[in-house]
Amino acid sequence: MANVVVVGAQWGDEGKGKIVDWLSERADVIARFQGGHNAGHTLVIDGKVYKLHVLPSGVVRGGKLSVIGNGVVLDPWHLVKEIATVREQGVDISKETLMIAENTPLILPIHGELDRAREEAASKGTKIGTTGRGIGPCYEDKVGRRAIRVADLADPATLEARVDRALQHHNPLRKGLGMPEVNREELIAQLAEIAPQVLEFAAPVWKVLNEKRKAGKRILFEGAQGALLDIDFGTYPFVTSSNVIAGQAATGVGIGPGSIDYVLGIVKAYTTRVGEGPFPTELDDADGERLGTRGHEFGTTTGRKRRCGWFDAALVRQTCATSGITGISLTKLDVLDGFETLKICVGYELDGERLDYLPTAADQQARCKPIYEEMDGWSESTEGARSWNDLPAAAIKYVKRVEELIECPVALLSTSPERDDTILVTDPFAD
Ligand code: GDP
Ligand code: IMO
Ligand code: MG
Repeated sequence: MANVVVVGAQWGDEGKGKIVDWLSERADVIARFQGGHNAGHTLVIDGKVYKLHVLPSGVVRGGKLSVIGNGVVLDPWHLVKEIATVREQGVDISKETLMIAENTPLILPIHGELDRAREEAASKGTKIGTTGRGIGPCYEDKVGRRAIRVADLADPATLEARVDRALQHHNPLRKGLGMPEVNREELIAQLAEIAPQVLEFAAPVWKVLNEKRKAGKRILFEGAQGALLDIDFGTYPFVTSSNVIAGQAATGVGIGPGSIDYVLGIVKAYTTRVGEGPFPTELDDADGERLGTRGHEFGTTTGRKRRCGWFDAALVRQTCATSGITGISLTKLDVLDGFETLKICVGYELDGERLDYLPTAADQQARCKPIYEEMDGWSESTEGARSWNDLPAAAIKYVKRVEELIECPVALLSTSPERDDTILVTDPFAD
């Protein structure tokens, strides 16, 4: 297989970063294709922790090309800071190792301000719990054809015209919300100052990737967020503002959908969610606390406590379908160590009827009651297991039951944050 897409199959934070880093040894190019610095991907390599937000998780391995595709929304000031942080950790970033699509829209300070102002003004029930990073407002500007893109930074006259276009929309909006109008000259000066640091990495990514593909190079696509945060198929409106599912990989960099050979879904052995919105298997009891404590479930980007609950097989079966997932990587199995009994949600009860999928309407999603199946837990430790032989029989039984219920095979198993504490069942890159 030449090209593999990695996507989150729940509400994000499934462990995509760890798996992308692990798989990147086999890849030539690692490309982000949506989202922005709302993502937080944690890598642990020989005890050293790397926290990446907009840089692809492949940057940590030397000798690979990392790509930020046009499907991403890019905050240039954040980018510069993140590059400086990882460079301090010894990571080599140069125009040979990092490429940014020229048609990538830029997140401006006004986007973050608008995002946060809306969240502050929202009443209970309408707050989304965004990361406050300006992701939604920037995607709105992209679709509204008033975004400033990386290529616009190269020419001062174009940049000024694009700033005027954006402010024509934003200033009246800000005025209506009681926010100060943006100073045009100040924004132009800020953008002109940061421009060279972004343009250094700018390239026609679609062209480079198509050439790489023809030359037989292997591309690994790194998704951010998870399918249930997808703008179309997620728990709308409690979602992010981009398509997150695997189909986005092609449009998010500019290659054909036929170039994707394998879709690896990253699935946590239980469920977490950060931010507002429905979550049928959420636990607000000691079991939920235990999952959160053992799993260190605090957001990488915002530090917020993640909501925790049992594994929801009905949801993952659904996201395996919408992303066309070939195989999954089941992560954080070790967090389940020591539970006497484990529950798996196999469907929902809604108004006296049984459903095997999550309905679309938000009010129905909120009313869905999980139907559980119980399984025996295990008392042995699976932490750091690197082969099936290291796993207790009850843990293997749990994994097999997950496979059956979601109707998709396990290709990888992860048993700790460390890169090498990973069990390979099927290599997504194998022919
Ligand atoms: P991502 O957003 O999908 O990349 O996931 P995050 O990095 O936000 O959150 C996953 C967290 O779980 C990180 O802190 C990882 O280091 C950690 N992690 C990944 N895989 C495992 C695992 O198999 N076991 C445990 N205990 N932690 C893991
Ligand atoms: P990774 O890539 C978990 C959530 C936010 C909020 C909603 C909308 O680390 O898995 P946004 O700022 O995108 O407009 O917020 O989406 N969210 C994530 N939750 N992991 C992420 O990324 C997320 N990125 C956004 O908490 O509920
Ligand atoms: Mg994360």
